[in-house]
Amino acid sequence: MAEKSGVSQLGYIGVNATDVQGWTSFMGEVTGMQVSGKADDGSTYLRMDDRQYRFLIHPSDQDDVAYIGWQVADEAALDAIAAQVEEAGIKVTPGSKEDMESKHVLGLIKFDDPSGLKTEVFCGAQVATRPYYPSRSSSGFKTGDLGIGHAVVWVPDVDKSLRFYRDVLGFTVSDNIWGRTAFMHCNSRHHSLALFAAGPNMKQRMNHFMVQYNQIDDVGLAYDIADKRGDQFATHIGRHPNDQNISFYVVNPSGFNTECAWGARDVDDMLWETEVYSRATTNYWAHPRGRSETNAAASPFNRS
Ligand SMILES: [Fe+2]
Repeated sequence: MAEKSGVSQLGYIGVNATDVQGWTSFMGEVTGMQVSGKADDGSTYLRMDDRQYRFLIHPSDQDDVAYIGWQVADEAALDAIAAQVEEAGIKVTPGSKEDMESKHVLGLIKFDDPSGLKTEVFCGAQVATRPYYPSRSSSGFKTGDLGIGHAVVWVPDVDKSLRFYRDVLGFTVSDNIWGRTAFMHCNSRHHSLALFAAGPNMKQRMNHFMVQYNQIDDVGLAYDIADKRGDQFATHIGRHPNDQNISFYVVNPSGFNTECAWGARDVDDMLWETEVYSRATTNYWAHPRGRSETNAAASPFNRS
């Protein structure tokens, strides 16, 4: 039997936003990302590295993740993933020429994951013609083959979603928090995706995304800038025991959270053994809550 193909990294994230300008200011000032372009419809591209973009913020009457884009190695891997998704009973739509141009990729497929989350898989990401130039002093982001960072989404059925990402898209489970959360990797980043169990009152699909800096000072600088801007913190600085990132969570203009981080450990699939954490051990230290009414406050990351 042929070995199954898998995705290789979190390539891009699309956001639907009622306040694109607010996002542009937030991402530029707090995270240090570079605004790299604007489409005719007002969608704004943000860079983190040598790629044309990593985030695409779309004007909308809603605030939430619009789609998540996972990368595969090449066109053969894209064809294989498309077949695997179809085999799982999920309809796959090939990306149009316009889709691929706007996403700056060579190949693209689109489908809804088992929770209904808009999902894209692509190959051939376009490299920007000019060097990355952060919008503020910054050591830059740890991206490359590791991808953007991680995306954490609320899903109504963690087990169902876990099976899809593991058995169809090729992820491996890194660890769990008892009964409600799965952290999954597709490269040596501890997790590129985490699945949180949604309650009946889920308002948004995304809990948070994480970006990881090359130096810890950028976490402190982002914290200082967010504080001066009056942004709301979902949690203040602390360290997680699973990926071991030192981070804080700040509420972005769409009301979900952005985790600014440094210091994660890598996963070596030859040696890794799945671990389980209790809700009481999701922080080595700190991560005290900030604003209490955000969706992240209900996250298993936070002490109850
Ligand atoms: Fe996170």
